Amino acid sequence: MPKLGIIGGSGLYEVPGFIHLKEESISTPYGEPSARYIIAGPEDGAGPQVVFLPRHGAKHSIPPHKVNYRANVWGMRSLGVERIVGVNAVGAIDPGFPPGSIVLPDQAIDFTQGARESTFYDGQDVVHIDFTDPYCPEMREVIMRAAQAEGVFLVSTGAVYVCTNGPRLESRAEIEFFRRAGGHIVGMTGMPEAALARELQVCYAAVSVITNFAAGVSAGKLTTTEVVETMAKSTAAVMTLLKKAFSLMPEQRSCPCKDALSGTRL
Ligand code: HPA
Repeated sequence: MPKLGIIGGSGLYEVPGFIHLKEESISTPYGEPSARYIIAGPEDGAGPQVVFLPRHGAKHSIPPHKVNYRANVWGMRSLGVERIVGVNAVGAIDPGFPPGSIVLPDQAIDFTQGARESTFYDGQDVVHIDFTDPYCPEMREVIMRAAQAEGVFLVSTGAVYVCTNGPRLESRAEIEFFRRAGGHIVGMTGMPEAALARELQVCYAAVSVITNFAAGVSAGKLTTTEVVETMAKSTAAVMTLLKKAFSLMPEQRSCPCKDALSGTRL
């Protein structure tokens, strides 16, 4: 089974450039994942196979606040996945990030805490994972190298991702508040996905596609059509990036994520 996984966001429901080899239905102790997991291999045979899951379901029927993040991440792990890339659509709080560009966030602020099931450890087992750096440093470094090798433009290799619960978009004042708090991009699905992966010692990196300027940064009304259309235009670049990154990923992990649970129990 492949050790690399992709959780696709709005506009990414299959894996362009990859041939679907088989599908796996998984049931988890946390309920049903968003869809069947697709095992896929690159069309040209260059690079490893991947496990793909569309976060919002195969036909985009699950809104961000209803996604079963625990089941999705657990399912990936139960298939043997050790590294996940979460692809997500985001609004730009920072006006320097134009729609259509790709960002590799390095920090996150989670405004969904308390509103979503956000841990595997809510029973007798008391565990506090370290989340100083939410994203796997090794994966981030490899994705940056892949971008250079493929000439995929990353508008930034660092950004603070702000996660809101949705499904509504933000007010002007909320976006201004996030900006003052240090946020650069805003989305609805990046958390708790990243934290849940860490709790299972699975590496996780986010690749964020700017689909719009966030509320108040842009002059006009925000539309979902704009989000999905911009995402669709960036999909080829994202997949080129991920295919290369996966082919460059070292077989053995040498990051702290693989030992994330050591020293975390009471
Ligand atoms: N806000 C929140 N989530 C988003 C946005 C946004 O502007 N664009 C895409 N996902």
